[in-house]
Parts: sequence; structure tokens; C-alpha cells
Amino acid sequence: MYRTHHCNELRKSHAGETVTLVGWVNTVRDHHGVIFMDIRDREGVTQCVFRSEENAVATQMSHALRSEDVVQVTGRVDIRPEIEGQTTVNKTIETGEIELVATELKVINKSEVLPFQLDKELSNEDLRMKHRYLDLRRPRMARNLRTRHLITKAMRDGLDEMGFLEIETPILSKSTPEGARDFLVPSRLNPGKFYALPQAPQQYKQLLMVAGVERYFQIARCFRDEDLRADRQPEFTQVDIEASFVTQEDLYAIIERLLVRAFKVSRGADVATPFPRITYQEGMDKYGSDKPERRIGMEIFDFGDVFGASAFKVFSGTLEKGGVVRAINAKGFASVTTGQIKRLEEIAREAGAGGLAYIKVEGGEWKSPIVKFFNDAEKAALTERLGIEEGDLVLFGCDQWDVVCDVLGRLRLEVATMTSLYEGKDDILDFFWVIDFPLLAYDKEEGKWNAVHHPFTRPHPEDVALLDDEANFGKIRGAAYDVVLNGNELGGGSLRIHEADLQAKMFRVLGVTDEEQVSMFGHILGAFQYGAPPHGGLALGLDRLVMLACGESSIREVIAFPKNNKGSDLMSSSPAEVDFKQLRELYIKSVVQEKKD
Ligand code: AMO
Ligand code: AMP
Repeated sequence: MYRTHHCNELRKSHAGETVTLVGWVNTVRDHHGVIFMDIRDREGVTQCVFRSEENAVATQMSHALRSEDVVQVTGRVDIRPEIEGQTTVNKTIETGEIELVATELKVINKSEVLPFQLDKELSNEDLRMKHRYLDLRRPRMARNLRTRHLITKAMRDGLDEMGFLEIETPILSKSTPEGARDFLVPSRLNPGKFYALPQAPQQYKQLLMVAGVERYFQIARCFRDEDLRADRQPEFTQVDIEASFVTQEDLYAIIERLLVRAFKVSRGADVATPFPRITYQEGMDKYGSDKPERRIGMEIFDFGDVFGASAFKVFSGTLEKGGVVRAINAKGFASVTTGQIKRLEEIAREAGAGGLAYIKVEGGEWKSPIVKFFNDAEKAALTERLGIEEGDLVLFGCDQWDVVCDVLGRLRLEVATMTSLYEGKDDILDFFWVIDFPLLAYDKEEGKWNAVHHPFTRPHPEDVALLDDEANFGKIRGAAYDVVLNGNELGGGSLRIHEADLQAKMFRVLGVTDEEQVSMFGHILGAFQYGAPPHGGLALGLDRLVMLACGESSIREVIAFPKNNKGSDLMSSSPAEVDFKQLRELYIKSVVQEKKD
């Protein structure tokens, strides 16, 4: 037997008992020959004391202890004494009222000096990732892993209670369009052919509905070869859900129930339901985003009715060309520095703006080169709509609608960071649905229409007829919805097309030729001919969900072994070169390798 208790368990009530603990040396301190050692295991920390009068051998051995050695300690539980009228109780740990007076010590395995300290935050992420197994010993990381487990379990339990069956679908599968590049796996048995790793189990889960499963879920690993960011990994996990004979309302209720449960077990939070809903249009118009951060206020206001005939030609000219003029009020931010303005201008340009017009309200004056063009009515409209006061900073967007949404959407978030608007808002959980997404979006570069969610999403029942005329494609709403938390897209889904003819029509709209329909989607089109039930579903990004529950700002902090921004795992050095022979067996020739040779 390695242990009688975990390191978080011992209390005053155990006083006098002989116990055995096992774990890692957290810290060692030498007080005039008395050695104090904190032992740590997964559950907590206990202070051990080595005194020569209790056991001379163990105490002698304890002098050689180093942080992170693996040890087993046996001893007597003592209530911590008062020394010179001072309590030695440590209120910051659960076992702070007792200490273990060691009578035996066994060093199970020694540790080298660690490449970094575990009790300090470390900014060198490469170093952390190289020794991820040590990084994960840090309390914050250990807590995150545990939270992930709790949330995953809450999802499983909740779905099980609602009659969902957990079913695995293939990892070696076929390309399914979710908008990213595929990871490919060559097939040795089928020369020249490749599996694609699933970007999502989308088609399989729909085929399970045709199979009569009715309610499916999977904690599904998904693979997408896309540009990586704080909230994106090349492999990530979805709580993937599909159900037959359900309405959008049924699905909202199912997902809300799961999210309530997840935040209860992880944060003890009581999340109110039903979640509010906003339309895609409203999200874009008011917040410049389809996943708005609503906790920071700073709504976008439209001034199309004000500047149509303005002497400021940038505004009136844009309106004439069918664009929009909109603005936000960065309250109290007239103190913005030149550097900050530069940064805001850079962001506006990245989003496609030609420039950034702004007004600082200082000393009772509107400071901006553009103010001289404004008449009294224009100024009054700005003041009234934006609630302009002394000390404010007004930022304008003036371009086509989509550009302005993006520009002001990004500026809102940057201003919020610059002015610490997020401070004190950690406990606000702003869950809501974004509904009525457009079904299709025109890609100017490709010169074709793409599915906004994916090609299997149903058009809104009122908009199906619009599919007959390309002039109307942009107006079609999809029966698609996203669930958003604090400006993060947690999940997305839709009601699906279950009719073979409507699905084929949708493919045609997306420019998938008849031959491609057969070769790429023949299985699903075929399946729809044999009594496919109406169905719909959603996938939650588990990594993002856990990240938000843990109060982290990157999903890397809640994935045991994540990849860095270049898609590499620095610990195991993957991806790695492979042996020439291995490639030959797969009928693959590497151009990179040829170059080297
Ligand atoms: P979607 O592509 O919106 O939908 O993905 C669902 C959710 O998965 C998460 N997610 C990611 N998380 C981490 N890293 C990534 N690279 C990444 N990409 C996506 C997001 C997102 O909301 N098959 C559909 C779902 C459906 O229609 O049922 C799908 O995959 O949180
Ligand atoms: P100009 O008349 O070109 O000197 O521009 C006057 C102000 O309007 C400057 O602050 C520009 O940055 C800003 N501006 C110019 N073009 C745009 C645009 N397309 N969108 C927003 N602001 C602009």
C-alpha cells in the first residue's frame, strides 16, 4: 500500500493517527536542523516535519530532499503548535491545521532540477510546451484538466439523460466541407488514394439519423488545417449532437440544459434560461460581429440619414455609393495616446477601411480635422445618438456595410481592452443565440456562392423559393444558429436538408457539378432517398467551453498536449520527418526530401 490518505485529507480529527502519504516534494525548508517539507499529490499539500528526536535516520535523509523528488512519508498527525504565542496554522491550505511528524521517509525517485519553477507563472510558452508534463503539475493547469473532465462528464450525463446515444464515427474518413483544409492520410492498401481526417463528423451523424438512431452524440476529435489562433487548434474536440424529429426550439432547450449543467459543475454558476436571441443582422449592425461581446456596451449607431448631403465628402460620397456611415462612442477615451490611435488606425485598415475618422471631445471642444465640415444638425444628431460628453472619443466607420461592421466590430474590442472595460466582468456570463444567419455568401475572389454554415443546412422555410433566382441568394436565411458566450462562438448548428432533391439543388447553387455530387456526396444523396427523417443538430467547441469556464484566454491552457501556432508539438517534436522507406510504402515522394538529397 502506497498511501493511507491523500495530501488534502488530514484534519485536527486525525491527530495522533499514524498515516502514510506519497507524492512529490513541493518545498523543503531547513529551520536550524528541523526540516519542513511540503508533500504534494494530485489533491493537495501537507506539511511534514523531520526532527532528529522523532527519527534520526529519516531526518538525516531529509536533508538531501530536493523539489519534485517522489517520496513516501509515514508519521504521526499532530495539531500545529503555537510558538511564542503565535499560531502556526496555515489557512491557505486545507490541511493547514495539522502537520505530519515524520518517522519514516522513503525516496522513491529523485528529480533533477526543473527547467522552470512550478509556483511562478512562466511567459516562455515554448519552454512550457517542451516540458508540458511538468507544466501540467502547476496547480492552475491541474485545475484546468480537472475542470475539463467535469464538463465532459456533465455533457455525457446530460445527453444520456435526454436519450442520446454515444456513437463513434471514423477518423480515417472522407473530406467533408466545413470550410478548412483537410489533413490527409495516404492509404497503403489503395495506392494514390487518401483518407481525410474529419473536420467534423457532419455527414456521419446525418447518416445515423437516416439509420434511425434519432438521438446521437459524440465527444468528437476534429481536424482542420487552418491558421491557428488562441481559440483554434488543428485538432480540437466537439461535443457533437444530432437529433431527429426536433424543432429549432427543441434543440435550443437541449443545448441550454447542457450549458447550464456545465457551468454549474465547473463554476457553481446559475445560468438563467432561456438564453436571449438576436438575429445575425442585429449582431452585425449593433456590434459589428456575428459573435458579439455585449458586456462592454459601446453599440454602433448608424448615421446614414444624417450625412447624405454632408459637406464632408468622405461621408456623403460613401452613402451615395450605397455604403454606410456609422460610429461608436469610446466613453471617456479622449485621453487616447498617439500610439493607441495608430494601433486603432492599423486595425481599421486591416479590416479594409480607407482610414479612421475620429473626434476627441476635450476642453468643451470637438477636436478633429473633419469637424469643420459638420453643420449644427449633424453635430446635434451625433451628440444625441451617441450621448457625446466631455472626455469622449468618437470613432467612425465609412465604407460598404460589411467593411464597416468589421472595422467598428474590431475597434470596439480593442478600445475595450485599452480602457480596461473587461475588468470586473469575469462573473458575467452573457449566453445568447445568434439566429437567422444568411444561408449563402458570395465569394468575390472565387466568383461563386458558398454555404455560410455548411451545404447541409436548410434554408429558412419562408425563404426556400428564393433558391430559384441567383439575384435573391444573398437574402436567403438559413435555419442555422450559433450559441455565443461573452463574445466567443461556443457552438453552431442547423436544421438540415433531408430531401434528396433539395440537397441536390443546394449543391448546384454552390457550384458542385452533377459528377462531383455523385463522387463526393453520392452516399448522402443516396441515403436521403430511403426515408430520411427531418433532423438537425449542433456542435459545441469543448475546448472553448472549458477555456471560458476556467477563465483562460487560450484553448491551449485547457488541452493536455496542444500544438503551438505553427502546428508543432515541441515536446514530442511532431510533425517530424519520416523514413524514406515509409514514404515508398505509401507511394509517396517528398519534393522536400528530393531537394535535400
Ligand atoms: P462549426 O464548424 O461551427 O460546426 O464548429 C462547431 C464548433 O467547434 C469549435 N471549433 C473549434 N475549436 C477549436 N479549434 C478549431 N480549429 C475549431 N473550429 C471549430 C467552435 C465551433 O463553434 N458540423 C458543424 C456542426 C453542426 O452543424 O452540427 C460544425 O462543425 O466552438
Ligand atoms: P481626408 O479628407 O482624406 O483627409 O480624410 C479625413 C478623415 O477621414 C481622416 O481622418 C481619414 O482617416 C478619414 N477617412 C478617410 N477615408 C475614410 C474611410 N473610407 N473610412 C473612414 N474614415 C476615412
